[in-house]
Amino acid sequence: MSVDATKQELSALLTPHHQEHILRFWEQLNPDERKELAAQIRDINWARVSEWGAKAAGGGELDLPFEQLQPAPYQPLLPESPKESTLQKASIAHGETLLRAGKVGAFTVAGGQGTRLGYDAPKGTFPVTPIRQKSLFQIFAEGIARNQDKYQTIIPWYIMTSALNDEATRNFFNEHNYFGLNPANVMFFAQGMLPALDLQGKALLATRSSLALSPNGHGGSFVALRDSGALADMAARGITTLSYWQVDNPLVRVIDPLFIGMHDLTQSDMSSRALIKREPMEKLGHFCLLNNRLIIVEYSDMPDALLRQKDDRGRLRYRAGSPAIHVLSRQFIERLTNGELDFQPHRALKKISHIDEAGAMIEPSEPNAIKLEFFLFDALPLAQHPLVLEGDRSEQFAPIKNAAGDDSPQSCREAMLKRSVNWLSQAGIPFPMDSEGKPAAVIELSPRSFVDAKDILAAKSRLPVFQPGGSYYID
Ligand code: UTP
Repeated sequence: MSVDATKQELSALLTPHHQEHILRFWEQLNPDERKELAAQIRDINWARVSEWGAKAAGGGELDLPFEQLQPAPYQPLLPESPKESTLQKASIAHGETLLRAGKVGAFTVAGGQGTRLGYDAPKGTFPVTPIRQKSLFQIFAEGIARNQDKYQTIIPWYIMTSALNDEATRNFFNEHNYFGLNPANVMFFAQGMLPALDLQGKALLATRSSLALSPNGHGGSFVALRDSGALADMAARGITTLSYWQVDNPLVRVIDPLFIGMHDLTQSDMSSRALIKREPMEKLGHFCLLNNRLIIVEYSDMPDALLRQKDDRGRLRYRAGSPAIHVLSRQFIERLTNGELDFQPHRALKKISHIDEAGAMIEPSEPNAIKLEFFLFDALPLAQHPLVLEGDRSEQFAPIKNAAGDDSPQSCREAMLKRSVNWLSQAGIPFPMDSEGKPAAVIELSPRSFVDAKDILAAKSRLPVFQPGGSYYID
């Protein structure tokens, strides 16, 4: 195609959506730069992006009929009736059967940019354990390996990256020999990207020859699973059920027979763990019902009055919060992605560097752009029989979001230590504590051997006597 024809073709894609400014520097670009920009432009559905941009530029506030909202019911962690108790027992047994039969896969979303943490590499490579400094990816890999041994099975692991961190992620696994996993059972695939928009909905340029693109949100995973061939790979392997978690939560139980089993027994398309909120303003999404459909309403979208509402037992009415731990049925994802997925993106105001009309670099000090992101939980209202199962926060959730303070590496390490000590205590093994009731020694349990409290019991005879001030890595 001649250069002019290419420009015409690109103009035809952009002009109907008032995005032709993207070609402003076209005449100054060399052939490689033109190729780069043309590929980016062709990859984007400009009609949709411009429609979302116009909506977002107009405010884009969530238009929920809050008066019709109800808290969603959830299965309590501790059974409250003989029926629930029977279901729990049956679920664990059924989950274990699915695992042994090789029907369970693992799925981690790791395509985010981790801007809040401010770590200059894929977040999954962040060193987190207190003694060996194992990375998030290593913790998950070892947990998967332990479960493979336990159930004498293969648990294929699907990892979603983005164009920004795919190569670095693959290199990290290669350099570490996949942490002992068979590379044939670990599959990486990159999610889609969306352009950042200015506050009028116009796409921003990062350079004269490239758009300011960012990953399209964890909700981009459904289409990415399909387009990458991961879904087909699951089907070929006979995987029916996926255990899903986010890369920033090292406490997650990567494989949870109870959750997996209950998901399947209740014929749920998409199941969710729920945590009981500690206080009204805690930043978790809320499980709600709207028109009999399960939805998650983000903390920032809930009116204050609803956040604070109490039920007749004095508990928060909207107390079930989402730690983003799910189980998904492969068939549900196939159904969702059988055609165009009609998710509406959420918008966030961000500081995004870009060039201006004269080509000068702008480094904003205030949020200047709209980032569009799809959310995984927007699949919930489309799911049949969506199960919500309460989880124990201290056992499952300590995300690393920020560099310091809440949800930081420091708070996460404290939570890891606390859980290890708790597992020891459940097995009747004493651990030194200080006068404030905090652990007075450091212990790191390798997920290669320890994925739950029961694993401690099995290893009891080989554990040392823990002394105050000691530092113990248990393999
Ligand atoms: P967050 O919402 O915490 O975003 O992602 P983030 O990009 O990691 O971090 P910040 O907001 O820039 O600080 C929650 C999970 O969803 C994944 C992340 O990798 C993390 O596991 N995610 C997020 C994706 O896989 N893709 C995305 O586009 C966004």
